Amino acid sequence: MVLRPLHPLPPRSDASLANAWLEQLSASLADPTCNRFDLCRRTLTELAYPQFASNWETAVADESLPMATRLALNALDARNITLEPEYYAECDQDRFQQVKPLLWLWYSFDRLPIGGQNIDLGVRLRRLLARHIFKRVGANFKAFQHVEVTFGYNLEVGDDVVVHRHVLLDDRGGIRIGNKVSISDYANIYSHTHSIVEQADVTNALTVLEDGVRVTYHATVLAGVHVNEQGMVGAVAVATKDVRPYHVYVGIPAKSVRVKPNAPEPATILRTADQRMPR
Ligand SMILES: CC(C)(COP(=O)(O)OP(=O)(O)OC[C@H]1O[C@@H](n2cnc3c(N)ncnc32)[C@H](O)[C@@H]1OP(=O)(O)O)[C@@H](O)C(=O)NCCC(=O)NCCS
Repeated sequence: MVLRPLHPLPPRSDASLANAWLEQLSASLADPTCNRFDLCRRTLTELAYPQFASNWETAVADESLPMATRLALNALDARNITLEPEYYAECDQDRFQQVKPLLWLWYSFDRLPIGGQNIDLGVRLRRLLARHIFKRVGANFKAFQHVEVTFGYNLEVGDDVVVHRHVLLDDRGGIRIGNKVSISDYANIYSHTHSIVEQADVTNALTVLEDGVRVTYHATVLAGVHVNEQGMVGAVAVATKDVRPYHVYVGIPAKSVRVKPNAPEPATILRTADQRMPR
């Protein structure tokens, strides 16, 4: 293994424009009178259909435009689309409507030429939006493209957390993430599950990733699982039960294969499944 820290890149030519745009957005969101639906619609129209930025209202009603164009314009306003969590019985509609336009901006930005793999701008936009979507978010939050959350408002995130591309954070039953946690590409963190008999019988359970946890590529953590401090879930593993601190779990269902060499003494004892820590 070779230590390969990320290296800083020189500023882009549009850095001052990007800074000004993010500051403008940040100031608008900080204003308690801001209508988030209008703000996000305007922002998305400016990004996706700039030719309609000044006349969105008349354009959606303009019968001379193709119907598909009018529908596409209409969908820039989050009031005109539905997101899956809105159908959930326990969705707190008042809270969800607060975050819905911001989620729509987040997801839609990722699908535009300006967004997606545009790392610096994307990370900074998501960091800004997360402050108004999540229940709590600490310093230096970093989310890459195509991250999806459920409600958003049930998600607590500590400092220095990195969420890589295409991660699902299902905070239906709540997710609590500590400091310095890394969630790798295509990982799934769930906090709800369905009865094997009755699909509509849903159990929500808080899922916890403690400080220093790493959930690696394509791994899944099921609802209610507690991944303890410095625990690691290996690539493609499915954590169905709690992960002991400093242990490395792999496979389906995930089992401990080793203890990190920096673990304090009590964590070094490998235990069998029935001796695992209670949730
Ligand atoms: C979990 C992981 C770190 C384990 O690495 P390690 O401690 O060096 O473990 P080893 O490679 O010695 O493997 C120990 C055993 O587990 C098995 N194993 C390792 N990773 C596995 C995985 N993801 N799924 C199933 N089995 C796995 C190995 O085949 C080996 O089995 P054996 O003892 O029967 O030969 C690593 O395999 C992994 O999944 N890495 C993911 C990539 C990563 O680091 N992502 C982080 C990005 S932030």
